[in-house]
Amino acid sequence: MAEADIALIGLAVMGQNLILNMNDHGFVVCAYNRTVSKVRDFLDNEAKGTKVVGADSLEDMVSKLKIPRRIVLLVKAGQAVDDFIDKLVPLLEPGDIIIDGGNSEYRDTIRRCKTLKEKKLLFVGSGVSGGEEGARYGPSLMPGGHKEAWPHIKHIFQSISAKVGTGEPCCDWVGDEGAGHFVKMVHNGIEYGDMQLICEAYHLMKEVLCMDQDEMAQTFTDWNKTELDSFLIEIAANIFKYRDSDNKHLLPKIRDCAGQKGTGKWTAISALEYGTPVTLIGEAVFARCLSSLKEERVEASKTLSGPQGAKFSGDKAAFLEDIRQALYASKIISYAQGFMLLREAAKEFSWSLNYGAIALMWRGGCIIRSAFLGKIKEAFDRDSELQSLLLDGFFSKAVQDCQDSWRRVISTGVQQGIPMPCFSTALSFYDGYRHKMLPANLLQALRDYFGAHTYELLSNPGHFVHTNWTGCGGNVSSSSYNA
Ligand SMILES: *[C@@H]1O[C@H](CO)[C@@H](O)[C@H](O)[C@H]1NC(C)=O
Ligand SMILES: *[C@@H]1O[C@H](CO)[C@@H](O)[C@H](O)[C@H]1NC(C)=O
Ligand SMILES: *[C@@H]1O[C@H](CO)[C@@H](O)[C@H](O)[C@H]1NC(C)=O
Ligand SMILES: *[C@@H]1O[C@H](CO)[C@@H](O)[C@H](O)[C@H]1NC(C)=O
Repeated sequence: MAEADIALIGLAVMGQNLILNMNDHGFVVCAYNRTVSKVRDFLDNEAKGTKVVGADSLEDMVSKLKIPRRIVLLVKAGQAVDDFIDKLVPLLEPGDIIIDGGNSEYRDTIRRCKTLKEKKLLFVGSGVSGGEEGARYGPSLMPGGHKEAWPHIKHIFQSISAKVGTGEPCCDWVGDEGAGHFVKMVHNGIEYGDMQLICEAYHLMKEVLCMDQDEMAQTFTDWNKTELDSFLIEIAANIFKYRDSDNKHLLPKIRDCAGQKGTGKWTAISALEYGTPVTLIGEAVFARCLSSLKEERVEASKTLSGPQGAKFSGDKAAFLEDIRQALYASKIISYAQGFMLLREAAKEFSWSLNYGAIALMWRGGCIIRSAFLGKIKEAFDRDSELQSLLLDGFFSKAVQDCQDSWRRVISTGVQQGIPMPCFSTALSFYDGYRHKMLPANLLQALRDYFGAHTYELLSNPGHFVHTNWTGCGGNVSSSSYNA
């Protein structure tokens, strides 16, 4: 009997929570797991008393679904997704919809879209963010793929997603093919950047201002009431306050060695691939790499010294506010860079992305949720084709208002020997972006001198010329190699 609105395969915590979330919103969900006993366990425990139905085979699951069939995969990214698709294809009919809600790489999603299109099935790759809590009570959802699927899943997706403002869902159609998973990847990269910026602020508070844990907790609580109002600032405040069972603060006991699962790295790789200067996320990834060289750093600390006796003697409260503004300005740069990468990918793959909708999808439900994303949404409402966030009136003013503080923080930090890879790369980007003339004229001359790579004159762009710099070089320009 076809009774279920949607099926979900993969009963790990995320899958179970998404099912319960859909159930809460009135949808009948059919649950399936390769280990069929898991289905029974789930129905007898977490899903007891709900309308959730179980299936003991894929055939059974498919037979219980309304047409067009909607099937969500929440299994490990990679081969497991392809394996399930292969098993499902013979059981489905044209127009049925497979949704991959896992952390798949966007290129895999592009490939699966192409393959399933040939089989007349609809495929959706959806970013899902917000962790287990989000999955249960309202995640940020970023679906992309075959747009014909959207009218059939929109109601379910938007019902279960997080809501902001006057009930606007943090879920909208992102774009064709792998657009949903690409946007999720960039979200994760931005998350790396946001966290590293918070860590650099903490480092300055601890080592330049010699603040204690309670003062830092109070500072983050205060910052949460400013432009920085966000989930990550809020949980940072809670972390500073947290005491271990021995009543001592837990944070100073944690080993300073960061792990990573790879999505930040993939964002940085895409940035290099598409030639977009997403420097802040790149630095955030490298900062984790440097942190993980703990033993090497311990050794180095015995011999490599920093600045001696340069104690901070300025106004501490004023410098703390400077740090806040440096964090805010750097964050603006990071998001500007993230959206630049989205624009470039959209060009590369001919996706038409709705940037304002993306900002709204990230506004609630996910790890980078913040009041700030509401401002980004407003910027794209003013101009949907905004070239750069930095060219929007609100953000250009914000960055310029912060810049004196930002420069003071970086110059003081440098003099005190504090590493600030993201604060400083953000400022370098800002200074580079606002310069009409960069020293790349010399770069071009050097390349032409040693490799006859040619250059353009300012007075005649698009026309490449070569100079016989030494009087002994040839007139032939290089096309055989590029340096
Ligand atoms: C089945 O459920 C377990 C958790 O109970 C989960 O770890 C696994 O990913 C699920 N796998 C599939 C393919 O359904
Ligand atoms: C941070 O601000 C939000 C509202 O914007 C509030 O819900 C939350 O409780 C605040 N958290 C802290 C730790 O102050
Ligand atoms: C490069 O310049 C030198 C000296 O001015 C000249 O002798 C030589 O022919 C030039 N080479 C070419 C390829 O024009
Ligand atoms: C070198 O290139 C210039 C401009 O492209 C051309 O006018 C000139 O005849 C070339 N000289 C030689 C020696 O080929």
